[in-house]
Amino acid sequence: MPEANIDADELKRYSFSVWNYKQGEIVSLMIQIGDRLGLYKTLAGAGPVTAAELAGISGLKERWLLEWLRGQAAARLLDYHDEERFELNPVGAAVLADEENSLAFAAGAFAGGTPPETVDKLVEAFRTGIGLSYEELGPNAAHRTERMLGPWTKQSLVPQILPALDGVVEKLEVGAVAADVGCGGGIAVSTLAQAFPNTTFHAYDPSTHAIERCQAKVANYDLDNLEAFVAGGEQLPDVPTYDFVITFDCIHDMTRPAEVISRIRQALKPDGTWLIKDIRSQPDFKANMRNPLLAMFYGFSVSACMSSALSEPNGAGLGTLGFNPDVAERMVREGGFTRFHEHDFEDPSNLYYEVRP
Ligand SMILES: C[S@@+](CC[C@H](N)C(=O)[O-])C[C@H]1O[C@@H](n2cnc3c(N)ncnc32)[C@H](O)[C@@H]1O
Repeated sequence: MPEANIDADELKRYSFSVWNYKQGEIVSLMIQIGDRLGLYKTLAGAGPVTAAELAGISGLKERWLLEWLRGQAAARLLDYHDEERFELNPVGAAVLADEENSLAFAAGAFAGGTPPETVDKLVEAFRTGIGLSYEELGPNAAHRTERMLGPWTKQSLVPQILPALDGVVEKLEVGAVAADVGCGGGIAVSTLAQAFPNTTFHAYDPSTHAIERCQAKVANYDLDNLEAFVAGGEQLPDVPTYDFVITFDCIHDMTRPAEVISRIRQALKPDGTWLIKDIRSQPDFKANMRNPLLAMFYGFSVSACMSSALSEPNGAGLGTLGFNPDVAERMVREGGFTRFHEHDFEDPSNLYYEVRP
């Protein structure tokens, strides 16, 4: 027996930690289901409820709800009270229900899951070296990315982040031309287009799923100052066009980030500003090990960010943690920018860089 020479307690501990990841996977599915059915929103502020009461409010089947509620209490996501009553307390509501007003909202990150065909393609990518682009990851992934990254952007970009940049708010208020490169579902650019009606916004992303989501916002919010293009940052104009450019959580996903950086330099007016948001990380893996969610970030990298950044031959492959402040500063200076200022807005996952020619 290979187990004869190993410490029994250590074996139990290690085994528990592996099963705990399995528990995380299956609780993730339960969160996804709760989110899709609107159960967290229903439970928020409802106080302690029974499965029968929740069935009455939601129109869903009591037996299914009881099993889900017990599981959520077992996961310590709901408080359990006598007489089989379950409660989503205000902290839980901030994390699982309040997508519009809470910076801590996280349930959107569970949307969609990973289809088996994508897993097959990722396995194959380890053999070929060529990953999946966001286009190949499909509409679900675009939706999940938007819901995972959107709440912070929507709530903090205009009131907190833009006022910290030198002269940007004033320009956007008067009327400028701005671009969101790697716009994804267009949360940032549509938020800006609503806040600054005198400015013209262009949104770029090579993923048709992302641009469809962005175009839906143009229609829903009736925005006549926002146009979205299925195009990468490599296709930006090669003459000074923009007063303001943003790239949010996307440089590290690009196969040719250096080329896009040079293109942003060409497309930006001499007095323009480029705002980069990218993952909070350090160049040293050991230093990053202090991040208790580091394994999740590496999982995001293999399944999405690095995969996208290697989705064509000779891709740069930076990946989720690859565009750290040292790399960012070196690359933007090599791309012809002279001013680089790091901002920390206490966004738990991201740092921000104000870059100027
Ligand atoms: C993690 S998502 C971020 C989306 C959005 N900026 C946000 O904050 O929600 C990364 C996006 O970068 C896009 N992308 C990948 N390569 C790109 C390129 N060369 N130029 C522009 N966007 C690119 C992907 O299609 C994807 O939508």
